[in-house]
Amino acid sequence: MDLMSQIKAKAKQLNKRIVLPESFEERTMKAADQVIEQGLAQIYLIGSPQALLAQAQKFGLKNIEKAQFMDLETDSRIEKYANLMVELRGNKGVTKEKALSLLKDPLYLATMMIKAGDVDGEVAGADNATGDVLRPAFQYVKTLPGISVVSGAFIMILPEATYGENGMLVFADCAVHPDPTAEELAEIAVATAHTTKAITGMEPRVAMLSFSTKGSAVHPMVDKVVKATELAQKMAPQFKFDGELQADAAIVESIGKKKAPGSEIAGKANVLVFPNLESGNIAYKLVQRMAHAEAIGPVLQGMAAPINDLSRGCSVEDIVSLVAITATQAAGR
Ligand code: ACO
Repeated sequence: MDLMSQIKAKAKQLNKRIVLPESFEERTMKAADQVIEQGLAQIYLIGSPQALLAQAQKFGLKNIEKAQFMDLETDSRIEKYANLMVELRGNKGVTKEKALSLLKDPLYLATMMIKAGDVDGEVAGADNATGDVLRPAFQYVKTLPGISVVSGAFIMILPEATYGENGMLVFADCAVHPDPTAEELAEIAVATAHTTKAITGMEPRVAMLSFSTKGSAVHPMVDKVVKATELAQKMAPQFKFDGELQADAAIVESIGKKKAPGSEIAGKANVLVFPNLESGNIAYKLVQRMAHAEAIGPVLQGMAAPINDLSRGCSVEDIVSLVAITATQAAGR
């Protein structure tokens, strides 16, 4: 069974509650219909049931009537969410009136449904930019204990088995945090090791990438990666990290042996942690296009509850897959 089929099989067993706040959006609604049909999760939609069902009928969808509906005009839980928002961010100027106004935005409402424990996870972004999806989550759901930054990982599946583990590698951060400090980069590395283990089942071998291998260049940017490697190893001694490594030293066995002799990771890495968002985002897109890799994600990591952001160019199948991944992440929280 391929990785996505395994994730879907796991999601089916978990039967988690996933909210899709862009409920009227065509691809989202079609994905919701498929998720319900395949039994991958319980789907929560935001809007009046009549309006949502009319839209579903327009698209010829039969399963939407089995979704749960959150009607912000009539649902009594809105009051509870507004009070919770004031409790959590009253010190940042959120009044009851402001909270009720923010809750008219389905992205804020979905976030509060998670925070209140009424759903297990969220998938959005087919219709909204990354920042708009993430900001409410950053403000109210916040990060896991011990983690201060959220980041985004991609599971990269290459058509050939040469690199990583039979052609599978995890890349991060490719989606969220533009310019991490050494401490933040260490957290990103640890979070990515956890994501790798939880979603792919691989034992993570984490390469902390740079333009230098083991002191071949001297620069503050290299120092940052060296420091992040040390910190990550201290934070998560159960995983293996090594850096700083260049990309070729990380994934090509002969080059790893030459440039970083004695390293347990060089030449064998299955997790690549990039020094900043520019390099991570550019790298995953190049590998996806030029090496024809399947790029699953971004899987957001470090958030206290699973909230995942789609690309606005996503397909219906991308949304279905991300719902299954989100359900898997929700397990054990
Ligand atoms: N992790 C956790 N919390 C964060 C993070 C983070 N990475 N970034 C910001 N926050 C928190 C802040 O601490 C703040 O909390 P507070 O209000 O309680 O003090 C809150 O979020 C808002 O902070 P801002 O500094 O206002 O954050 P802003 O909204 O300006 O930026 C954003 C956050 C939108 C994620 C920004 O970092 C960004 O634009 N990143 C790039 C996203 C992107 O475009 N990615 C590439 C495309 S995705 C793709 O190609 C797959």
